[in-house]
Amino acid sequence: MSTQKVIHGIGHAVKRKEDPRFITGNGRYLDDIKLPGMLYLAFVRSPYAHAKIKSINVEKAKNMPGVVAVITGKDLQALNLAWMPTLANDKQMVLPVDKVVYQSQAVVAVVAEDPYLAKDAAEAVEVEYEPLPAVVDPRKALEKGAPIIREDKGTNHVLHWEAGNKEEVEKLFKEADIVVRQEFYYPRIHVAYMEPCGVIAHYDRIAGKLTVYMTTQAPHAVRTVISLVTGMPENNIRIISPDIGGGFGGKVYVYPEYVVAIVASIMTGRPVKYVFSRSEDMQTTAFARDFYITGELAAKKDGKVLALRVKVIADHGAFQGDANPSKFPYGLFTIVTGAYDFKAAFVEIDGAYTNKPPGGIAYRCSFRVTEAAYTIERLMDILAHELKMDPAELRLKNFIPSNKFPYKSALGWEYDSGNYEAALRKAMELINYEELRKEQEEKRKKGELMGIGISSFVEIVGAGPSHIFDILGIKMFESCEIRIHPTGAVIARFGTRAQGQGHETTFAQVIADELGIPIEKITVEEGDTDTCPYGLGTYASRSTPTAGAAAAVAARKIKEKARKIAAHLLEVREEDLEWERGRFYVKGVPSKFKTIEEIAFAAYTNPPPGLEPGLEAVAYYNPPNMTFPFGSYICVVDIDKQTGIPKVRKFVAVDDCGVRINPLIVEGQIHGALAMGFGTAFLEQIIYDENGNNLTGNFADYTIPTAVETPKWITDQTVTPSPHHPLGAKGVGESATVGSPAAFVNAVVDALAHLGVRHIDMPLYPWKIYKILKEKGVIK
Ligand code: CDP
Repeated sequence: MSTQKVIHGIGHAVKRKEDPRFITGNGRYLDDIKLPGMLYLAFVRSPYAHAKIKSINVEKAKNMPGVVAVITGKDLQALNLAWMPTLANDKQMVLPVDKVVYQSQAVVAVVAEDPYLAKDAAEAVEVEYEPLPAVVDPRKALEKGAPIIREDKGTNHVLHWEAGNKEEVEKLFKEADIVVRQEFYYPRIHVAYMEPCGVIAHYDRIAGKLTVYMTTQAPHAVRTVISLVTGMPENNIRIISPDIGGGFGGKVYVYPEYVVAIVASIMTGRPVKYVFSRSEDMQTTAFARDFYITGELAAKKDGKVLALRVKVIADHGAFQGDANPSKFPYGLFTIVTGAYDFKAAFVEIDGAYTNKPPGGIAYRCSFRVTEAAYTIERLMDILAHELKMDPAELRLKNFIPSNKFPYKSALGWEYDSGNYEAALRKAMELINYEELRKEQEEKRKKGELMGIGISSFVEIVGAGPSHIFDILGIKMFESCEIRIHPTGAVIARFGTRAQGQGHETTFAQVIADELGIPIEKITVEEGDTDTCPYGLGTYASRSTPTAGAAAAVAARKIKEKARKIAAHLLEVREEDLEWERGRFYVKGVPSKFKTIEEIAFAAYTNPPPGLEPGLEAVAYYNPPNMTFPFGSYICVVDIDKQTGIPKVRKFVAVDDCGVRINPLIVEGQIHGALAMGFGTAFLEQIIYDENGNNLTGNFADYTIPTAVETPKWITDQTVTPSPHHPLGAKGVGESATVGSPAAFVNAVVDALAHLGVRHIDMPLYPWKIYKILKEKGVIK
């Protein structure tokens, strides 16, 4: 009979089913799609961050050979489409009419027979601007007298949001023996996926049907929004999300260029394609982070923490486009109390409009969890240094004890399960922590710079219970539809859309495990709204907690029907049957059984009287709670005392995402996310000058880590299952991006702490460290 080995169920480190397609160059990405009669778009983009549009002359461009149409903001205004809604209930210019509000904003669109003609014609468009003073710092944007960016709003203040118990926090701060306070800047960074964003819109005038191929992580939500905005019936809209080369949150956004492509296709009746160039993508698509954070932590002198107070000023760019659930304008930043047993906490955030592209998306992050984990893990280290306590000891003293779960945090979350001490102790053992501290002491005596940084982060992923989570009013849940064909082969469809995470493999493993059908016989499909059940998409590490659960629930529904069919075939009562993976057998008579394949065949050829034929099920899974993965990372850094260049010598990552469906894929997720965390800590930042010019608009000026810079990772795990998830699994995709930046920064600061250094903002460029070493007299 089937064994787990044969079917490759949960826990098997099988290679990804999708890999042969990807690594042989046979993925079907958006730019691979060519439709008959396809037209191409190019955009005229603003050289200014803030300027009035005095005039636009499109005559020359319009008359160039191969140009089919030229579209301006005024043309869209006539169609009531010059503005579009954002995911955060704000609105955003599709093409501007009166003024531009960030550099490289799309101003005019040209539609032509080929992409080169379109680009040439775009260059022939004449736009006259009158520059206005630009506001690039959100703190200055909120000052009195700052130039107003959004006349429609009349203010640069986006919103004020607070959570927690302010009075209780104030009381506890008064009772504290020690208060540490630190300002942090979490830099604006780019979501550097491999494949830039793109769209092909095809309006079929005869069928009245709009098909949009789009690099989107959330096809169903996009379809609903297009229907609501245009009034087009939802059944006449089909969103297809083909293979996607990385999304990391940046492909949840609907970009103005997509709307223009749709309008252009409706205008011309032909398919219209637009793929962002790398520079266009880097200069205009949704940014991540950009938080100015002030953290204050109150504690007793023995290190026991009491209360946490955090104030943030958030830069939104010119429109509020954050992809956050409606009730959480700053996402799940309220996980900021982390792994620690605080009595109270208070968070307040103010958002500002600036002359930069909008975004604020959850870049490999469950809605601002990365900023939260960084804040608390930096503050804990600062407190440890102030108290002259070992940072590991301070953490162990304050962890929420493993017997206190489910645990209600000071900011209201109910953590499902955790064992933070076990993860940290395992990481300490793996890296030989005690020895490293001794080595550090010896090195300091010799004037050498070595640091050890810990980050014991907690995440909150799996949005979400739909009574509190929605995007634009659409409740968050996830779906799976399983159809078993007569021969026992399976097609399973989901509302999620992977961008490289391996869903075709892991979701097949879940179904294999539940039904005892080998993964080779299970096809997983995502990303087509005409065929897949409704779901909110893949981002924020939500797929396993939600769609993974939906797969298990749908499979269990099938098992219930299979039991009825097996009873009929074996001529026994349903309750006389026992399930063993892949078959039902008669209790006490294991030789009398029917396999799932035999049952599937009978479902179509010999169903029990009164039972409808077929063997399929659909599950819409509304999770009862979020899942709370966690981990402990330890980083060892050596700093060259002549140049300030930091080198990561060793990095240990112990992650706990509950039950691992595919340990190999989980490892891959952690490796990739660690590289991204490394990039954030050491290399990446989108920089603007005072006029709002983007100084880092290509990969020559914006560095992401390659295999050359990226350190080696030592990974391990603890397993604390989620008690409410049907498989005990928690999300993991983003864990290491969330958890690692603090470990890197803590290590570098620890290397310099004896010189009186308390904080350095990311990215930890060598010149910043060099400057400090010079100031401290280490470099003469
Ligand atoms: O939503 P997203 O797919 O980005 O994140 P995820 O749910 O954390 O899953 C990332 C990949 O890791 C998927 O292929 C998951 O099925 C897999 N995974 C796993 O095998 N076991 C877990 N406990 C969590 C994720």
